[in-house]
Amino acid sequence: MHIDVLTLFPQMFQDIFSLGIFKRAIDQKLVSLGVHNIRDYTHDKHHTADDYPYGGGAGMVLKPEPIFEAVESIERKPDVPVILLTPQGRLFSQKVAQELSQHSHLVLICGHYEGVDERVSEHLATDRLSIGDYVLSGGELAAMVVIDAVFRLVPGVLGSEASPLDDSHVGGLLEYPQYTRPAEYRGWAVPEVLLSGDHAQVDSWRREQAIRRTHKNRPELLDKAELSPEEKRLVERLRQS
Ligand code: ADE
Repeated sequence: MHIDVLTLFPQMFQDIFSLGIFKRAIDQKLVSLGVHNIRDYTHDKHHTADDYPYGGGAGMVLKPEPIFEAVESIERKPDVPVILLTPQGRLFSQKVAQELSQHSHLVLICGHYEGVDERVSEHLATDRLSIGDYVLSGGELAAMVVIDAVFRLVPGVLGSEASPLDDSHVGGLLEYPQYTRPAEYRGWAVPEVLLSGDHAQVDSWRREQAIRRTHKNRPELLDKAELSPEEKRLVERLRQS
């Protein structure tokens, strides 16, 4: 999987994916990142990438020409998604990350200032993503969130192929609580069942905890979660109590 990012601040991407699991994944050539400076595609002597908004108003708007030229300079097949990071996009989620991880190449465009000329969204981007209902000062952090969530789904990146299946939001529930040694810390004991060695009991406890935690922190997720009839009855009891 290769991701190209277009940004005014390429330095922001310098070290972030060269640590931990991504360093190994990059060394093993499972994933790679190309970072392109939008300013390199300007042609005036001041390397102007932004301009005043037509119609007036505060702030600056990113010009279309350098962004179109930067994307067009990237060798890519016609079906490669070109994604604009913007608070006006559809909401990014684990499901979208899974969808994107099926592609072998993505192009991400980081907006800045008050926004990006609409013609980029309309005629260049094939998708628009927001990472949440808040406004960041640029698309870079949003792009990093998307890259992290997508890269870790590429087979082999996490080491064990099975591990992303337990993640929060896979199957529509938050993940169950995790514990490690010591078995007791400051008087707080690890739940007995996890020390029992009974895998069926552990699985059933984890499933119930995932449902309880989702009910407590993100109750709206339970409406769409994949639940057995017995689990649905548990949700009913939790809702009534
Ligand atoms: N750029 C600024 N805010 C953003 C957000 N919430 N998601 C994606 N890109 C953004």
